[in-house]
Amino acid sequence: MTHDKQKLALVTGAAGVLGRATTSGLIADGYRVILVDLDSKRLEALARQIGTGAYPLVLDVADPQKVAEACATIRQEHGQVSVLVNNAGILSNNKAAETADDEWRHILAVNLDGTFYLCREWLPGMQADRWGRIINVCSLAMKTGGITAGTAYTASKGAMASLTFSLAREAASFGVTVNGIAPAYIKTPMVTEQLTEEQRRQLLDQIPVGRFCEAEEVANVVRFLVSPLSGFITGEIIDINGGLHMD
Ligand SMILES: NC(=O)c1ccc[n+]([C@@H]2O[C@H](COP(=O)([O-])OP(=O)(O)OC[C@H]3O[C@@H](n4cnc5c(N)ncnc54)[C@H](O)[C@@H]3O)[C@@H](O)[C@H]2O)c1
Repeated sequence: MTHDKQKLALVTGAAGVLGRATTSGLIADGYRVILVDLDSKRLEALARQIGTGAYPLVLDVADPQKVAEACATIRQEHGQVSVLVNNAGILSNNKAAETADDEWRHILAVNLDGTFYLCREWLPGMQADRWGRIINVCSLAMKTGGITAGTAYTASKGAMASLTFSLAREAASFGVTVNGIAPAYIKTPMVTEQLTEEQRRQLLDQIPVGRFCEAEEVANVVRFLVSPLSGFITGEIIDINGGLHMD
């Protein structure tokens, strides 16, 4: 099957700020989108707002059995997902000494395990179709050690990058690209509510472009990575941080 005939995407964390922007971008590019999130109310509202082409699905990506069941249903009702955006994520700003066992497990389970479960579900079909795109939403924290982000979050995002490299190598010869995005400080509750005013002020002083990132700017990178323009890019983690970190 060709790219144009398939046009089915799945976005996790779709009801969140970045998820909504990404979903809208993919819909604008002609995709049907399965919207996955835990938050049924926001998910339904988003699906209503988008209308045609949006299919809400309440699912905990950290639950391997539920993921397997949901993916079987999707396959039956909609077919193979050719674009997978692993965007669901949770943040903790606690550093190591303050990180409880269950907090560590929960953050790794959602950010890393959830990403893995969904990749494992959809990658074989993409390989069989000889076309697919996986985009994993990592974070600048994986490179900096977490300026404000905590230990579990930072470790989960670093592991997502390694998972991206591993899958990219495995999938490349099948026409499937696997990339990541490492954003920093998008205008979302993670920044507007989970940071103090003092942290926000200090960060703005350090970001050369002098502002926080718009969700649409990250969504545009997803759209590029999905498009035929980026077919030779795989195993890459694209920075989007306003110059806060240059390498
Ligand atoms: N906001 C930032 O500045 C920033 C920076 C770097 C990376 N990121 C990453 O971007 C992604 C999106 O972040 P956001 O800022 O839009 O956050 P957000 O909180 O607005 O959205 C995250 C969404 O994920 C959903 N979710 C949480 N746990 C889930 C689970 N177990 N199963 C399914 N859905 C679940 C939430 O309900 C929420 O709708 C995350 O992976 C985050 O780590 C964000």
